[in-house]
Amino acid sequence: MVHLGTTQSPIDTEDNLTLDPENWSALREVAHRALDEALDFQMSVRDKPVWRPVPEQTEALLSSPAPSAGQDAETVVEDMLRHIVSYPAGHAHPRFWGWVCGTGTPIGMLADMLAAGVNASSGTFNDAPSRVEAQVLRWMRDLFDFPEGASGIVTSGASVANIIGMAVGRDAVLTEDVRGQGLGSVAGTPTVYASEQVHSSVDKAMQLLGLGLKNLRKVPVDEAYRMRVDVLATMIAEDREAGCRPIVVIGNAGTVNTGAIDDLEAIAALARREALWFHVDGAIGALAAISPRLRPRLRGLSQADSIAFDFHKWLYVPYEAGCVLIRDGEQHRRSFSAAASYLETPARGIAALADSSNTRGPQLSRGFKALKVWAQIREFGFDRLGRLHDQNVAHVQHLARLVDAAPGLELMAPAPLNILCFRYVPSSLPETAWDAVNQELLMRLQEDGIAAPSSTRLRGHFVLRVANTNHRSRREDFDLLVRETLRLGGEIEAAWAAGEVPAR
Ligand SMILES: Cc1ncc(COP(=O)(O)O)c(C=O)c1O
Repeated sequence: MVHLGTTQSPIDTEDNLTLDPENWSALREVAHRALDEALDFQMSVRDKPVWRPVPEQTEALLSSPAPSAGQDAETVVEDMLRHIVSYPAGHAHPRFWGWVCGTGTPIGMLADMLAAGVNASSGTFNDAPSRVEAQVLRWMRDLFDFPEGASGIVTSGASVANIIGMAVGRDAVLTEDVRGQGLGSVAGTPTVYASEQVHSSVDKAMQLLGLGLKNLRKVPVDEAYRMRVDVLATMIAEDREAGCRPIVVIGNAGTVNTGAIDDLEAIAALARREALWFHVDGAIGALAAISPRLRPRLRGLSQADSIAFDFHKWLYVPYEAGCVLIRDGEQHRRSFSAAASYLETPARGIAALADSSNTRGPQLSRGFKALKVWAQIREFGFDRLGRLHDQNVAHVQHLARLVDAAPGLELMAPAPLNILCFRYVPSSLPETAWDAVNQELLMRLQEDGIAAPSSTRLRGHFVLRVANTNHRSRREDFDLLVRETLRLGGEIEAAWAAGEVPAR
């Protein structure tokens, strides 16, 4: 429990207590140093290990209780530099390809700093930050060929974007007053459809929206991990027959495991026929629409009723920033508006904002995440960003060729976008050992600071997974990954064959 001192003298109204520094020029020096360190970090990140474990000193600092007395800003900044920002997971590194993590950029960092500097929130006030977010949303609306009446909101990420898109879909399709009366007023069980490769955030959305996990029907996939739309049609018919209420179908524009893109055109047509809401989880792949080369792979995307996607993945924006677009803006606002006397919109003044984000999502107060997205698109333009998407995909194809050519490696799935799954094949060992060898191999790649792929399981096999949303990677980084995978794999295989426990 925090001990709050009782010996403090009472406040005198002339004390003018504040949290601003007494000595601004001293703080300015500390601030300049912090900015320099942050820029140095990005400039020289290639020379560092991808990841280092958190040292004991940092663990000790981060186990201490809340202080009663404060310390000078210099000490606090020094602790942040030495103990905290020196030990990140490694997302900014050119050989970080785990999960799906963007790399961040200097301009994004500066934008976040400026947004924090004026303590801006976004979306609820009559100010420039709200207009920046509105402009970013218009840019996205145009990118995805959504109509003028479409709306959207910048979110923390695609998890929340999925929740919002699915909530609007639920309210749009169900004729009952779900918002007022709850799901208990609905006749028949509302049912949602997605491929069995759908991201776990959709499971969470089912729980949070009161729809229930068991009412998310996982549709089987084909050999390329795309939803079987023919089976989807059968499942919908069977559910209707059984008295269920199909409401939403979710298409993947890039699955988390392999980057598979569902046949969005076919799903859109089926959703129209069945009067279902068509939501696309485009967390990984939707922004490939920026690249004229990749855009044709997303055919059907612009027919969606809602699209969730992430700026902090394939737009390389620093954490965190995602987005959801809703084709029917009025429907969007109906799902989230809530009357409150203290939030009236007057004709003029600070609160005179016609389209408050408070009617487009669950949050009232929101950080100014749109600024880093705006700044990034302003600095690089869609041309440069689209070319980087092409480069990410070309690098993954290069890696696929290397894996295919290496006798000790095996491709485990097609790589239609920027994700590749493969494994080391310890052919001298029984197949029952292969998963464990690859698990050990992955940990060593990370522990040695060489590279950071992550893993998944495909058709029961443990596989190494490279998701390339990295604007710092070079071709030679993938060459090194293959070399080191073969070297470490060989070491582990030999130790295993000699009867040694492979763990270090
Ligand atoms: C396909 C897909 N959907 C949704 C998400 C969730 O996104 P976020 O982590 O931005 O909430 C992810 C995250 O990796 C994803 O890959």
